[in-house]
Amino acid sequence: MAVNLIEAKEFVAQYIDEAPTVGLILGSGLGDLAEEIESPVFIPYNLIPYFPISTVEGHMGRFVYGDFMGKKVIAMQGRFHFYEGYSMRDITFPIRVMKAIGVKHIILTNAAGGVNRKFKPGDLMLITDQINISGHSPLIGRNDPTLGPRFPDCSNLYDHDFNDRVIGLAKALQLELQQGVYFYSTGPQYETPAEIKMAALLGADAVGMSTVPEAIVAAHAGMKVTGISCITNMAAGIQKTALNHHEVVETANRVKTNFSKLVKKMIEI
Ligand code: 6GU
Repeated sequence: MAVNLIEAKEFVAQYIDEAPTVGLILGSGLGDLAEEIESPVFIPYNLIPYFPISTVEGHMGRFVYGDFMGKKVIAMQGRFHFYEGYSMRDITFPIRVMKAIGVKHIILTNAAGGVNRKFKPGDLMLITDQINISGHSPLIGRNDPTLGPRFPDCSNLYDHDFNDRVIGLAKALQLELQQGVYFYSTGPQYETPAEIKMAALLGADAVGMSTVPEAIVAAHAGMKVTGISCITNMAAGIQKTALNHHEVVETANRVKTNFSKLVKKMIEI
């Protein structure tokens, strides 16, 4: 394991008594869920060796470790994005730290634009698969075989068996849950209507600027991955009004009760 990873892991481990098995990354407007973690311990990113600094409004920058639904969890309140100017490796470094402290299952959440015309703002979408044609991968460069294989399999990136259980949970909660493919766009600009048409043709259901690099690194590390998108708005050309981050955060905030219900059950099972 690289020395920077060991250092970061040892720093975070000082705050932890029992290894967390579940890791949670909270997207734009969804960070409040971490407030429900019991006996929380906060670890600000700016204290952790080799961590980048989060710069986006509506994203906090800290780990929250504690008890949640009878399990030890570690949540990221705020994440790093490629568009902030960091490398793909840097933005996914926290995933490797989570793996190093014991996380086996990572739940990635995000705010996303709806590409599937059957969706509406406020919908929750279980991610079934992803499309990355950005030309970037967090795994480009020398592979550390102690972290994972050079050529990791991605045929079950978002664990199908667990997803089936999530669909069952949503039914039991009588909560509408869409399913679909998440299309990665580096941003920071939102897409053009032509780009969204292309994404739809390629099989995308939602589009966003996060999650995909994290899912790749988690899969490389052999972690189980689950993803939930909050459809905060329809993508360009589908929605007739201009897109803005304020709207994204506002919609995400509006659906946080359902989001929280679903994620809690996911952690419990
Ligand atoms: Cl429309 N596009 C992207 N890339 N990210 C988003 C979005 C759209 N809406 C929320 N997040």
